[in-house]
Amino acid sequence: MSLKKFNTEELPQHIAVIMDGNGRWAQKQGKNRLLGHEAGAKAVRKTVEAAAKLGIKHLTLYAFSTENWNRPKTEVSTLMSLLVRSLRRELRRMTENNIRLSAIGSLDKLPKKVHEELVEVIEKTQSNTGTNLTLALSYGAREEIKQAIVDISRKVKNSIINVENIDETIINEHLYTQHLPDVDLLIRTSGEVRISNFLLWQIAYAELYFTDVMWPEFDEHELHQAINSYLKRERRFGKTSEQLT
Ligand code: IPE
Ligand code: IPE
Ligand code: MG
Repeated sequence: MSLKKFNTEELPQHIAVIMDGNGRWAQKQGKNRLLGHEAGAKAVRKTVEAAAKLGIKHLTLYAFSTENWNRPKTEVSTLMSLLVRSLRRELRRMTENNIRLSAIGSLDKLPKKVHEELVEVIEKTQSNTGTNLTLALSYGAREEIKQAIVDISRKVKNSIINVENIDETIINEHLYTQHLPDVDLLIRTSGEVRISNFLLWQIAYAELYFTDVMWPEFDEHELHQAINSYLKRERRFGKTSEQLT
């Protein structure tokens, strides 16, 4: 499926993905859930490179939620070591593809090794000018909003911010995503139709795309399908259709 007939300006600026279904994909084949995560890492590579090829400016991937800490210990530690390995393995390709890495979430809760590797890849890809890839790690939207409220309250208390001046811009500036525009297109794989505590503030006007495809099966073609669906929609932002023309 080609996207050539569409202008770059029409493409979503910011795509966010809830990468779901690794475990079920593996279990369906009689394999261990953990192998699903390995396969999921390959789908991440394919998707990131496909987004870079299209010139998507911002791609945010939900890799580990605050709630995911409640999974069995072995699954959590496998996911963490897979992260370390993937970061190490992907650095070269990220550089070749001009991808700039960043991360959002309670990053201080990550194991030291993951944190160190993450910081290293973020630093080494800092000056890349292509797609800005953001990994949501130990991420929870409620936690993010709570933390913004705490930070703003503290500034009000210390007379750095005036209560009367608190607006959406100030709130945005206190979220993990302060450097990102709102999400234009939110994709979730695996047939689940829920948000699972992802970017609650930032998806206020996002177009939602749900697919039954399991995350390890997601690839360039699936990304193009999602974008094609997005491009067919009329984003009215509260206005009438007539007002848009
Ligand atoms: C998504 O796949 C990856 C993470 C949440 C880390 P799952 O592991 O949630 O897979 P399912 O939903 O159990 O199939
Ligand atoms: C959401 O997937 C989190 C990530 C994709 C990292 P989950 O599989 O954890 O979501 P729920 O708990 O089924 O909603
Ligand atoms: Mg899941």
